[in-house]
Amino acid sequence: MTEQSNVNTLEIHNAMLTFDDFVALNSISLQAKKGQFVSLLGPSGCGKTTLLKVIAGFYSLDSGEVLIHQQDMHHVKPEHRDTAMCFQSYALFPHLSVAENIGFGLKQMKMAKTDIHDRVAQTAAQVSLNAHLPKMPAQLSGGQQQRVALARALAVRPEIVLFDEPLSNLDAKLRDKVRLEIRQLQRSHGFTAIYVTHDRAEALSMSDVVVVMNAGKIEQTGTPDEIYYSPINRFVAGFVGQANVMKARVLDSDSSTGIYRIACVLGEMEIHSPVPPVSDKVYAFWRPEDALLSEHGTGKNTLAFGIGAVSFLGNLSELQVHPLGHEETEYPCCIQLVGKNPIREGDNVNFSIAPDKIRFLRESYL
Ligand SMILES: Nc1ncnc2c1ncn2[C@@H]1O[C@H](COP(=O)(O)OP(=O)(O)OP(=O)(O)O)[C@@H](O)[C@H]1O
Ligand SMILES: [Mg+2]
Repeated sequence: MTEQSNVNTLEIHNAMLTFDDFVALNSISLQAKKGQFVSLLGPSGCGKTTLLKVIAGFYSLDSGEVLIHQQDMHHVKPEHRDTAMCFQSYALFPHLSVAENIGFGLKQMKMAKTDIHDRVAQTAAQVSLNAHLPKMPAQLSGGQQQRVALARALAVRPEIVLFDEPLSNLDAKLRDKVRLEIRQLQRSHGFTAIYVTHDRAEALSMSDVVVVMNAGKIEQTGTPDEIYYSPINRFVAGFVGQANVMKARVLDSDSSTGIYRIACVLGEMEIHSPVPPVSDKVYAFWRPEDALLSEHGTGKNTLAFGIGAVSFLGNLSELQVHPLGHEETEYPCCIQLVGKNPIREGDNVNFSIAPDKIRFLRESYL
């Protein structure tokens, strides 16, 4: 296995890019170390593919810079950058065999025929395609075609592989399988991966670093843990998972113990937070899986909820709930419980939310 190093393979500083009047990338700065897996996560149209194309050299920036191995890429053509791109649509050449598709970049590099043959065989073996080398792309399943696209990118042994939603055309089961394969290949080859997705599970499960984007900007960069448990604002909290976000008025604060009392739509609650709130009027949130059934109604932050719609999702049940006494506000909260349970719509049930499961966003309200 190749270890990650401290060297930045990729650095982007203040990247700005407009299409006519439309700002597609707005002051984007990020870094990827050698061997890191970095995901770009964000909604449709936020600039993910555009940023990949900037790294690959298909678009030039209005201002800002892209450095690969500490070298400014401004005048470096795509074919001379140490990158390869793996697309959502596979973009295989339909008139070339699997072997020719995988060896395409090597031929461009003018590698000797026997070396191409060996490298293609070796790369095909790594993605379990050895038996399919003579076939044409149309004779392969979607998952196999995706592997050809992956092998074609890996065959040239690039330092940086740029993935643009490579799994979005696969069914859920295959997606999980290829996801693990990509991660294993990335670890064993040691390349740096920049991986575009709008699937939060993909980003959280595969990445060393997640970059959450919105409308051409970076909202937050962090490890999957940081992004999930310490999102800075409502956008990130809601994009990486379901979040019950509440306006919280801070009544009492003691930053030496990290214990705070807040007033919110659920009543008065206690929060234990290593990070103080940014203001007295701040947003706080909790995740649906962090509410625990509290049959006897004891314990801190225990509240009675009225149960709305109940959805059984197999591994968990999802309850739409409202704090009792606030039916009229239709305050929407969601609670998830593991497996199936006897709770029904119309029940009143006590749940407790542990003080360290309620977290402050770094966003205040007026
Ligand atoms: N060549 C172009 N000319 C003009 N506008 C463009 C061009 N390429 C992208 N855009 C615009 O820039 C914005 C970002 O596009 P981009 O393809 O980067 O989004 P994305 O985050 O990859 O979205 P998706 O998840 O749907 O693929 C979009 O509003 C798009 O219409
Ligand atoms: Mg895209």
